[in-house]
Amino acid sequence: MAMVALRQLLDEAAAGAYGVGAFNVNNLEQIQAIMEAATETESPAIVQASRGARAYTNDVFLIAMMRAAAELYPGIPVALHQDHGNSPETCMSAIDLGFTSVMMDGSLLADGKTPGEFEYNVRVTREVVEYAHARGVSVEGELGTLGGLEDGVGSGEIHLTDPDQAVEFVERTGVDALAVAIGTSHGAYKFTRPPDSEVLAMDLIEEIHERLPEVHLVMHGSSSVPAHLIDEINRYGGEIKQTWGVPVEEIQQGIRHGVRKVNVDTDSRLAMTGAVRRVLSDSPEEFDPRSYLTEARKAMQETVAERMRQFGQAGHAGDYEPKPLDEMRAVYA
Ligand code: G3H
Ligand code: 13P
Ligand code: ZN
Repeated sequence: MAMVALRQLLDEAAAGAYGVGAFNVNNLEQIQAIMEAATETESPAIVQASRGARAYTNDVFLIAMMRAAAELYPGIPVALHQDHGNSPETCMSAIDLGFTSVMMDGSLLADGKTPGEFEYNVRVTREVVEYAHARGVSVEGELGTLGGLEDGVGSGEIHLTDPDQAVEFVERTGVDALAVAIGTSHGAYKFTRPPDSEVLAMDLIEEIHERLPEVHLVMHGSSSVPAHLIDEINRYGGEIKQTWGVPVEEIQQGIRHGVRKVNVDTDSRLAMTGAVRRVLSDSPEEFDPRSYLTEARKAMQETVAERMRQFGQAGHAGDYEPKPLDEMRAVYA
């Protein structure tokens, strides 16, 4: 099966009233974990790579592994998405490589840290939309900024999305999906107590969705940072401090109000790290990477499959055939 454009995948999710997890990858085992979880739960899948992931993996390796995934799992519609593209050049290189979707994150300047002006964001996002749609590729934009600097993405300051600006932004850029800032941040250290309506502005999602019902909303920083994953790491010598993530029930509430793409990276990292620590601690004589990478892959698959069920995408893999990008180009035209 060919890779699917994000637009088609999210249009289907909207029609079926479910959300789709977008899981970050940096290597073969993570791609395998997602594709196996998708197969286990019969889910459509979004695999996403940050700039850092592309640099770590190497573009040629990455696209070859994703083409292999599409070939090996013909029953799974899978989108390959550029996460947090920092410039039109980054997005265009992803499109030229074969990504079926890109995020132009113009909420920040090209350094990925400094908040960008609204007009800058509109200009770079529109530029990417023109390039992408002419090739059948989908575009996610972002308005507002998340908190958190742990992973090098983000300004460290939270600026919630302004609904009036969201309407103008979508009209002027033509994005397929819009990432909204509602108080989440990237990384493991999101909240120092379970987040309530004081810290997580779920009502903003409802308002933006009411005003922009056709636009697919995206929640970044959506790892739930479950205590059992932290405990596993710490039981085997790790030192992760007490922390809280985004409760799955909040994400499910978002999905009821137009959230279609849910970005998760940290939970996969935690799951894999706990498994690696466990194997190496239980078997200190072990030195075959397959021993701990097998367990790491299994742990990520479990976490991803659980999210796929929770987000409602399970059971929907067979609902539709991916349109070739040529056909999507005609749709956009
Ligand atoms: O949004 C950030 C993702 O978790 C990717 O993080 O830039 O460390 O690959 P990264
Ligand atoms: P988490 O750090 O919460 O997993 O967020 C990932 C993300 O938003 C990737 O763009
Ligand atoms: Zn993000």
